Amino acid sequence: MTRRTKIKALLESEQTDIEVLVKGWVRTFRNNQFIALNDGSTNHNLQVVVDFENTNPAKLKRLTTGAAISVSGTLVASLGKGQKVEVKAKEIDILGDCDAETYPIQPKKHSLEFLRENAHLRFRTNTFGAVFRVRNTLAYAIHQFFQERGFVYLHTPIITASDAEGAGETFHVTNFDLNRIPKTDDGEINYEEDFFGRATNLTVSGQLEGELGALALSDIYTFGPTFRAENSNTTRHVAEFWMIEPEMAFYDLNDNMDLAEALLKYVIKYALEKNADDIEFLTQRLLDEEKQKPQQARSEMNLVEKLNFCLDKDFERLTYTEAIDILKESTPNKKKKFQYPIEGWGTDLQSEHERYLVEKHFKKPVILTDYPKQIKAFYMRQNDDGKTVRAMDILFPGIGEMVGGSQREERLDKLEQRMDEMGISKEELWWYLDTRRFGTCPHAGFGLGFERLIMFVTGMGNIRDVIPFPRYPKNAEF
Ligand code: 4AD
Ligand code: MG
Repeated sequence: MTRRTKIKALLESEQTDIEVLVKGWVRTFRNNQFIALNDGSTNHNLQVVVDFENTNPAKLKRLTTGAAISVSGTLVASLGKGQKVEVKAKEIDILGDCDAETYPIQPKKHSLEFLRENAHLRFRTNTFGAVFRVRNTLAYAIHQFFQERGFVYLHTPIITASDAEGAGETFHVTNFDLNRIPKTDDGEINYEEDFFGRATNLTVSGQLEGELGALALSDIYTFGPTFRAENSNTTRHVAEFWMIEPEMAFYDLNDNMDLAEALLKYVIKYALEKNADDIEFLTQRLLDEEKQKPQQARSEMNLVEKLNFCLDKDFERLTYTEAIDILKESTPNKKKKFQYPIEGWGTDLQSEHERYLVEKHFKKPVILTDYPKQIKAFYMRQNDDGKTVRAMDILFPGIGEMVGGSQREERLDKLEQRMDEMGISKEELWWYLDTRRFGTCPHAGFGLGFERLIMFVTGMGNIRDVIPFPRYPKNAEF
């Protein structure tokens, strides 16, 4: 019995006239003779040539789109164009029938919305095969980048009692019977009777625990799911997303920016090399999609060009204050084209502003630093001006914020003062403050939104299409 070979390996095979065993799903079957077979190892299909004169007609009928089959035969040089090799079938077994009438994935173009509703089957399309292979490669590349640099992969808790970002957008975790929630004498929920004896939630970020690790192990990173109950129905937000959060002792904000820029370039380059076929397919997909748009709405660069462009260019670094000056003087601001006009210093940038800076003004990734303290989290290091903090956001074309990070406030008195100002409990975060009491040191870190990175590398326009089973308001199917 020969062992099954994956289609990717067969298509790259230098040898022909060998016996092979392949398994996969039928994409199409035409002229009662040619099966396009795919097993997910590559975007390309393997052509299987059926000897229809010597095949039972009942079996030929079962070779429908979506059917799982096993084929043994000979790998031969192909006469047809479009492929180097093909398999001349000797024996075909139907492993799983697929009713052509009711199978949702037809051999035609489906809309992304339709495929989202059929997310359980969308892996079987070229687009989603490519997206999820790229996702896999990026995850691997991220680990490789950090491992090569001696970082320790740290697992921070999924269930926690803290809201690291202080934004109050957490999902509660409880095992109370929701119809009979225990109350205290004054009518409050009695969390003492809950599983953990206190109120808990799903983590919004592993950063605070990550800092504890960095203040002993020097360089750590987390890579795990995070959860936010923000009710934003946008193409860039999901309620469950994966985040990469490195945290480095003895780093200042410049070191932090250097590391983030190096990481992004490393993983994009890695995917371009490792998944060249998939990215080429996705590039073509985008070009086709753009043909529907008017000329001036089309991008100047295609996907591959855009990715390479990011590798070649230094990211632009400037302060929030400098960015505000640019935006104030910008044509869209003067012509009142922004939905949120730039009036003064101190408010958060909207995505239209970020896009202007990245896509129109600098035309490359931009790192903004030193944001006003009132729009950033309590843990960011305070600048001497009393107004700004050592924050950084990395903005990407078409994506907006890809990375958020900062140098951390390592001075106990400054940190406690800021927590008081912002109403964050020092008692609850006693363990976080302990690191500032015992051997504190300058340190910094950032969070990279994994799905936003995948959006950039695949060119997909909606975050719901780069995570297998997206979670968003009013949707938790699958
Ligand atoms: O800017 P954020 O909120 O930063 C933090 O959570 C820090 N604790 C990170 C750190 O310094 N260790 O989130 C970081 C990144 C964002 O830049 C964005 O890419 C992504 O996480 N992100 C989301 N991605 C998808 N859906 C959402 N709802 C997201 N919210 C944030
Ligand atoms: Mg942020």
